[in-house]
Amino acid sequence: MAIFWLSVVMFLGLMIPMCYFAWRYRYKPGRVTPHQTHSTVMEVTWTVIPLLLCVGLFFWGIIGYMQFAVGPGESMEIQVTAKQWLWQFEFPDGTRAVNELHVPVNKSIHLVMTSEDVLHDFYIPDMRVKRDIVPGRYTEYWFTPETIGKHVSTCAEYCGKGHSDMKATVFVDTPKDFAIWMETGGDEWMHHTPEEWGRIQYEQKGCQSCHNVDGTRSKGPTWKGIYGKPVKLNNGTSVMVDEAYLRESMMQPSAKVVDGFENIMPTFQGLLRENEIRGLVAYIKSLQ
Ligand code: CUA
Repeated sequence: MAIFWLSVVMFLGLMIPMCYFAWRYRYKPGRVTPHQTHSTVMEVTWTVIPLLLCVGLFFWGIIGYMQFAVGPGESMEIQVTAKQWLWQFEFPDGTRAVNELHVPVNKSIHLVMTSEDVLHDFYIPDMRVKRDIVPGRYTEYWFTPETIGKHVSTCAEYCGKGHSDMKATVFVDTPKDFAIWMETGGDEWMHHTPEEWGRIQYEQKGCQSCHNVDGTRSKGPTWKGIYGKPVKLNNGTSVMVDEAYLRESMMQPSAKVVDGFENIMPTFQGLLRENEIRGLVAYIKSLQ
């Protein structure tokens, strides 16, 4: 508002005299043009006053910018790694999660973010959180979640084919629920059958951005009707699609790449809990 009112004063201070002078010194036959065209006093005045105003605004503004840019010292630091096309979050105790950011309510969160490939942008619309993520450098952001519940987060920088699927869910938990989640990863999986839990993971962990379940090919092979059958690999051999192969393909996707597909899948080593792997395998099994 200070800048707004300052602008109003400056605008009127320029426009009113301009109109007045245009009228006052308008052309009239016989009117003599004044000889003096330079006034050092006026030039110094209209240079120094705006300069002081701008310097004042700069120092005033930088206080607000520092508050915005530098999180409070007691914040919880969470490492964010963006890659085509998922979000990986790492907590201070080493707990990691994919596309699922749990934070305790009313606690300042400090995000330290980087990308493994291209430009991404971490965006939580509900919390006015939005910042670019740049490969080869760290960008930071901080916020304090105040509303318990689920919030949507998405990528706000076009990053290739899977950009529109690059989503995460932000869970703002009570301190108790957050502690339980840190300890166990939550007990939600117990309330679902393994197939159902696998289908939830399929959407939550971003599998659906590359794997279809309707038999059509996407960036990766479909999951429909593959379990229990041999599949041809890009090295000419083939392998039986069983539990061990599926597990290996999540942990070391480059080990056995299906014929006709690129080796683009990121590793999920350390990113999936046992119940999630079992759920995903059960889900693939059920897609006959
Ligand atoms: Cu990542 Cu768009």
